[in-house]
Amino acid sequence: MSGEKNSNQMWGGRFASGPDAVMEAINASIDYDRVLYREDIEGSLAHAEMLAAQNIISKDDHEAIAEGLKAIEKEIENGTFAFSRRLEDIHMNIEARLAALIGPAAGRLHTGRSRNDQVALDFRLWVKRELMRIDGALKTLIEAFLARADDHAETYLPGFTHLQTAQPVTFGHHCMAYVEMFGRDRSRVTDCIARLDESPLGAAALAGTSLPIDRHMTAEKLGFREPTRNSLDTVSDRDFALEFLSLAAICGVHLSRLAEEIVIWSTPQFGFIRLSDAFSTGSSIMPQKKNPDAAELIRAKTGRLNGALITLLTVMKGLPLAYSKDMQEDKEAVFDAAETLDLMIAAMTGMVSDMEVRVDRMAAAAGAGFATATDLADWLVREVNLPFRQAHHITGRAVALAEERNVDLADLPLADLQAIDPAITEDVYHVLTVESCAKARTSYGGTAPDNVRQQIASWRERLGDET
Ligand code: ARG
Repeated sequence: MSGEKNSNQMWGGRFASGPDAVMEAINASIDYDRVLYREDIEGSLAHAEMLAAQNIISKDDHEAIAEGLKAIEKEIENGTFAFSRRLEDIHMNIEARLAALIGPAAGRLHTGRSRNDQVALDFRLWVKRELMRIDGALKTLIEAFLARADDHAETYLPGFTHLQTAQPVTFGHHCMAYVEMFGRDRSRVTDCIARLDESPLGAAALAGTSLPIDRHMTAEKLGFREPTRNSLDTVSDRDFALEFLSLAAICGVHLSRLAEEIVIWSTPQFGFIRLSDAFSTGSSIMPQKKNPDAAELIRAKTGRLNGALITLLTVMKGLPLAYSKDMQEDKEAVFDAAETLDLMIAAMTGMVSDMEVRVDRMAAAAGAGFATATDLADWLVREVNLPFRQAHHITGRAVALAEERNVDLADLPLADLQAIDPAITEDVYHVLTVESCAKARTSYGGTAPDNVRQQIASWRERLGDET
C-alpha cells in the first residue's frame, strides 16, 4: 500500500516505503503502551464523571462516554480491539474507537485534559499497582525465609569474610540477614508509593485549564491521596518511575547476591544445600551434574534492572520543562523491569522454600579452618585478663601448631596449649566447639540461636500487624 512513489534508495529494509513509515515507526508507542489500557480507561471514566458533575458535559454525554469506554475495555480484553500504529498510542487508539462507537460525544471526553497529564496518570497508576504487587511478593519471600530460619536457628555453618572461613554462624542468622534486606526493599516500596500517591489528572498540557474542573474529585476517585500541586512539574515528572527502577535495582542486587550464595552452596565442594529438581537442570552430557540455572539467571537478570535504571536516568537528564516526546521512552524499561523483578522474586521464593539444607555438611565446614580461633583469644581476654593483642598472638601460635599437625584447635592436647601459655586450662575446650562459639554470640544482632528466635518472632509480629 506504500506506493512506488515513496520508494527511495535511502529508505531500505523495513522502511522501504519512505519517510511516512519511518516516522510512524519512531513515533508510535502503541506496541508497548497498550498495557496501560486499563489505567487509561479508568482515568477517562473518572475524568468524564467529574466533567458531568461540574456541568462541563451533559449527563447524556457522560453516559454515552462511560458505556463506550466499558465496551472498549471488553474489546481489548477479549482480543477483538484493532490497535493501530497510525493512531500512535493507547490514548488516541481508545479515543478514536470511542468516536467510532458513540459519535461526536466522544470529542467531549478530552475537555480540560491533555495527553500529557493523561499519560502521567496512566503510568503512575500502573507503577503504583506494580509496586503493590512487588510488595506482596517480597512479603511471601520473607515468609519463606522466616520458615527456613525457624527450622535452622541451630544449624551451624561457617560465616565468611573475603569468602574465607571467619567464624561459625547459624543458618537461621544467615536467613535473617536476607529478611532484613528484603524488609528494607519493602520499605522502599512503601516510600515510593507514598511519594507517587498524587493525581496528575487535570494538570492538562502544562499550565492547568480555564475550565472549572475538580481535581480533588478525580484524585479521590482514582485512589490517590491528593492532586499534584504544580502543573508544570506534574507533566514533567518521572521521579516515581526512577524511584521504582532504583528500588528494583537494589532489590535485584540483593537477589543476585543470594543467587550467588546459592550457586556456591550447591557446588559439590561446598554441598551446603541441594536444590530441588524444579529449580535446577541436568547436563545433556555429564550425568553427575545438577546446575543451579534459576539462581544463575536471577544473578544475570540483575543486569536488566540496572540497565533499565540507567536508561530512564539518561532519558530524563537535560530535558527542559515541561513535557518532551523523549518521555515516551520512559515505559519499556519500566515494563521490562517490573516483569523481570516479579519473575526473579517468584523463582527465588520457590528455590528458598524447596532447597534441602544439608545440616551435616554445614556443621563439618563450620568447624574447619580454625573458625573458633577468635573464641580462644576471647577466652584468654576474659579468663586470663590478657590484652587482646597478646591473646591474638598466643592464638596464632596454637593455630600454627594445629595446622602443622593437621588437626582442629579442639584436638590439641592441653599440655601442648599450656606449652604455649601456661595459664590455659581445661575450661578452654568449652569455647572451642562450633556450637558453643555460635551460642556465645548473644550480643544484640549476634548469631546465637536465641537471638535468631527472637528476631523471627519480632518479624512475624510485624508482618502480622500489617493485615
Ligand atoms: N505517547 C505519549 C507518551 O507516552 C503520550 C503523550 C503525548 N503527548 C504529546 N504532547 N505528544 O509520552
